[in-house]
Amino acid sequence: MNNIRENVSLKELNTFGIEAFARYFVEVNTEKEALALQSVIPEAASVLILGGGSNILFTKDFEGWVIKNNIQGILTEIINEEEVVVKVGAGVNWHEWVLHSLREKWYGLENLSLIPGCVGAAPMQNIGAYGAEVKDTFDSLEGIFFRAGEKKVFRKPECEFGYRESIFKKRIKDFLITHVRFRLSRVPKLNTGYGDIQKILERLPHKEYTPEDVSNAVIQIRKSKLPNPEVIGNAGSFFKNPIVQAAFFEELRTRFGDIPHYSTDNDSVKIPAAWLIQQCEWKGKRFGNFGVHENQALVLVNYGGAKGNDILSLSQEIIESVRIKFGIILEKEVNIVF
Ligand code: FAD
Ligand code: EPU
Repeated sequence: MNNIRENVSLKELNTFGIEAFARYFVEVNTEKEALALQSVIPEAASVLILGGGSNILFTKDFEGWVIKNNIQGILTEIINEEEVVVKVGAGVNWHEWVLHSLREKWYGLENLSLIPGCVGAAPMQNIGAYGAEVKDTFDSLEGIFFRAGEKKVFRKPECEFGYRESIFKKRIKDFLITHVRFRLSRVPKLNTGYGDIQKILERLPHKEYTPEDVSNAVIQIRKSKLPNPEVIGNAGSFFKNPIVQAAFFEELRTRFGDIPHYSTDNDSVKIPAAWLIQQCEWKGKRFGNFGVHENQALVLVNYGGAKGNDILSLSQEIIESVRIKFGIILEKEVNIVF
């Protein structure tokens, strides 16, 4: 491989905008190059796979190998009147893929519009927003155990998808996702039940809403709520929304009557972490060049020049204060690179 570089700055490659250097950096553009990694990466070296860097916090320089996945391509494999199966390169930009699917009149991804990052990272935490998760349209994925140079396909039931969870996040290590296969509908089925989507659609001059309308509504809501990483460094929600037992929730409700919540499938309740953090008075707090976003308490931000460890320490203080006030331990959503 001749595209290996040393001591490469990752500042422009993570949306937090944290300065950190990769000891070795290699960009992978094809499956063949991914298979060749086995012969170049020393056995004992630590490895980090990087997509769009929108769910990562660097706390120091990375002394091992950073593999930037840049595998492109969108290939239609099966198509009939009802559905289409499409294989997409892991390095394709997620939102570009969503827009491409809409142009082709392939439906199911519209609620996931404008999520930053690459297609290959979408199954990692089963990305979700506005009433949809990637698992809803996921068929399978292909990748390479790069230390062994072995290819493997994971079908949906093997992926153990859950709320911001998958087998890849939990257990499968040293695996580079090269392609993701989606099963999309050729018949529009609108999913407008979440948040303000319906309200925005009702302002349109027409009444026959389309998946493109839903995509535009989601884009509008996201732009109004979440900071643009090109303006303020961030990685979206820093924590997951906690899921607690219904009985524990009832106890909380007797103390905090107005606590917002959503019922989940089981005997449990999801509570917005943003509300818990706001109740602990962190919302909008700024500590020099980092802090908690003023409009969304779940988003930690780098105003420019912050260190990853500053943001990590702030996240730990937040976890502690929420634990003391509510007895709930927040779990980080962002991947911390130590
Ligand atoms: P990276 O940050 O590069 O990597 C994330 C993790 O995946 C790392 O552990 C990395 O090693 C691993 N990884 C990446 N690519 C591969 C691969 N090809 N093979 C194996 N492992 C890989 N997420 C949501 O779910 N819903 C949202 O609504 C949402 N909104 C966001 C809004 C903003 C403003 C921001 C900044 C982030 C948001 N996120 C959201 C988080 C983020 O966009 C997603 O997690 C996204 O999928 C990360 O993609 P990425 O390519 O940037 O991954
Ligand atoms: N809220 C507050 N204070 C705030 C913000 C929100 O109290 O500062 C409360 C309100 O009660 C509000 C509720 O939290 O109704 C939910 O807020 P919002 O709709 O903004 O969603 P969220 O729970 O904060 C989740 C995801 C987002 C996703 C949106 C929309 C998680 C961890 N986050 O945020 O995903 O875009 O819903 O579906 O599940 C991400 O994962 O990075 C991400 C941005």
